[in-house]
Amino acid sequence: MTPPIEIPVSRIPTSRLEQIDFNNLEFGKHTADHMLIVEYDKGEWGAPQIIPFGEISLSPTSLVLHYAQTVFEGMKAFKMADGGVSIFRIEKHYQRFLKSLERMCMPAIPEDIFKEGIKQLVKTDTAWIPSTEGGALYLRPFMIATEQRLGVKISDKYLFMVVTSPVGPYYAKPLNMKIEIEYVRAAEGGTGYAKCGGNYGASFLPTQLARQQGYDQVLWTDAKEHKYLDEAGTMNVMFVIDGILATPPLSTSILDGVTRDSILTLASELGIVAEQRRITVDELETALSAGRVTEAFGAGTAAVVAPIENISIRGKEYPLPKWNADSFMMRVKKQLSDIRTGAVADAKSWNTIV
Ligand SMILES: Cc1ncc(COP(=O)(O)O)c(C=O)c1O
Repeated sequence: MTPPIEIPVSRIPTSRLEQIDFNNLEFGKHTADHMLIVEYDKGEWGAPQIIPFGEISLSPTSLVLHYAQTVFEGMKAFKMADGGVSIFRIEKHYQRFLKSLERMCMPAIPEDIFKEGIKQLVKTDTAWIPSTEGGALYLRPFMIATEQRLGVKISDKYLFMVVTSPVGPYYAKPLNMKIEIEYVRAAEGGTGYAKCGGNYGASFLPTQLARQQGYDQVLWTDAKEHKYLDEAGTMNVMFVIDGILATPPLSTSILDGVTRDSILTLASELGIVAEQRRITVDELETALSAGRVTEAFGAGTAAVVAPIENISIRGKEYPLPKWNADSFMMRVKKQLSDIRTGAVADAKSWNTIV
């Protein structure tokens, strides 16, 4: 085994920790004291460094600012019951990051820089991981194209960085969702499966319009026919229909969510059959009308599980039944939390202990 890479740490003179109210954390508002940074130039990665969190300087002609060559990840580190620290499913996030980079013609980040870099950054800012139940340190690795040029081209220079943010338990307000049948987030063959910045910019207008109509988020449908369900804004979507867990299959237009994968993996041990299959809007509408949909929820790193209380299909509202602690979504949320904090055995080796 190769020894872990040594990453120099330049510490912040005075921590900002005391300015933070850990009982009132707004998602993504505060950043921890340090960040990881490494440059790519002339076909090679430089030496990663951990430095105080702060501004970076970029030329106005940095390619990322014009042509959106940028990808990111989002994962979490948790305080465990025994006082240790775990990072959830770093390998799966690394693999997805590589896939996103490949789609955007960006260079692969070496595994040791990504994994050791994140581990050492989390270790440096361990004090920033909330101990509150459901709290975590949200980790945001990202890469941007920094070559200075106005012409449309693939950049020759990049920055890879990791910043982190303490987040509290996400008391997800039950969601009122609108099935989107006019606008498109991603088409087959496009970049929907990559976690690239452009996907999110493209989703703002339809989401804003849905909010003006009183909905929280849109549920995207396929770009060609608006017939099949894809996913939500920052979550995959899951239903319990006739007692079976159903979620759209992976494709080039939806993100391979780590939470989605974890829930599908845990489903059988929680006593439910899981199906990854195409779900049409019509099928969902028929099943909702007949009261055969007992649960609908979003699945993603931020909220883990976000219950859906209403779905709007072509202007018609379909309320969902109230959930409780015995609902599948709440049982799987608890199981995931128990694995992350070490309350139950990590049988799938999902935790990286820092
Ligand atoms: C578009 C989109 N879909 C799904 C997800 C859920 O993915 P994960 O469970 O890996 O957070 C996210 C969040 O990362 C997302 O941005």
